Amino acid sequence: MTRIAGSRVLITGASRGIGRDLARGFAAAGAEVALVARGADALEAVAHEVGGRAYPTDLADRDALRGLLARVEADAGPVDVLVNNAADECVGAFTAMDADTLEFMVRLNALAAAELTRQALPGMLDRGRGHVVNVSSFAGIVVPPMLATYAATKAFLSHHSVNLQYELRNQPVHVTRVEIGEVRDTGLMEKGRTEPRLAAMFERMYRTRFSRLISPDEITRATLAAVEADAWSVRLPRRLSPASLLADAPRRLAWVFGPDLAPPRR
Ligand SMILES: NC(=O)c1ccc[n+]([C@@H]2O[C@H](COP(=O)([O-])OP(=O)(O)OC[C@H]3O[C@@H](n4cnc5c(N)ncnc54)[C@H](OP(=O)(O)O)[C@@H]3O)[C@@H](O)[C@H]2O)c1
Repeated sequence: MTRIAGSRVLITGASRGIGRDLARGFAAAGAEVALVARGADALEAVAHEVGGRAYPTDLADRDALRGLLARVEADAGPVDVLVNNAADECVGAFTAMDADTLEFMVRLNALAAAELTRQALPGMLDRGRGHVVNVSSFAGIVVPPMLATYAATKAFLSHHSVNLQYELRNQPVHVTRVEIGEVRDTGLMEKGRTEPRLAAMFERMYRTRFSRLISPDEITRATLAAVEADAWSVRLPRRLSPASLLADAPRRLAWVFGPDLAPPRR
């Protein structure tokens, strides 16, 4: 079980949207929070509000990302919970995307999350406790049009999470994957809504009750509960869960046929 009270939690993308709500939630639950985003002023304001520390960083910058966890730990102490939340999206046809945007998206959404996890896991394993939370999306499962690259990076994060859950199954370190639909009061919702056909697609999903708009505080409550319970997944809204479970079935197939491939407890 991962105890949040008294733990140190590093949250990326914590200056607004879901990340800011997670920072408030973890801090209110008694964690010491270390926060990452690019814009220093907004990040400092959140850090000040929740009594945490701010580490302004561009996660898409290779040099800034290298050694980031060590710099945070040298300043604040060991990180018990890493929350990979920062991401961006680019709405439109893939053929209209330029090379720099493509690279930025993959660097931020996929590479930075995997790299920070790579930096965090050895220390967590040595200390015999730790938790990684990957904020993914139902876009990684249902493949919404106009979001090809964003959706692919989220599929990477979900796939990677399940693989790490297998690899760490004998260790006291846990991975929770958060798969969510559209979220009110967030930057990515606003961006998605700039494309009227995408907005219309979401409205159709809500009218038919296939999905519903969720709020950041629902995600925070569910994520905190999942971390405390060492649960593998948060899926919101719940009515989209069957899609996630269907996508998970082949992902977990190797667990059945290769039950002994996970490294033994260190
Ligand atoms: N909102 C939704 O409807 C929705 C749905 C499904 C999944 N999600 C997932 O939820 C997470 C948060 O989304 P959100 O809508 O809350 O985002 P948001 O409101 O746009 O906030 C994004 C956060 O990430 C930071 N960020 C952006 N680029 C960065 C970079 N290069 N380096 C470091 N930090 C960076 C931003 O601060 P700076 O700009 O100052 O760097 C900000 O703190 C994402 O992983 C997203 O994929 C969101």
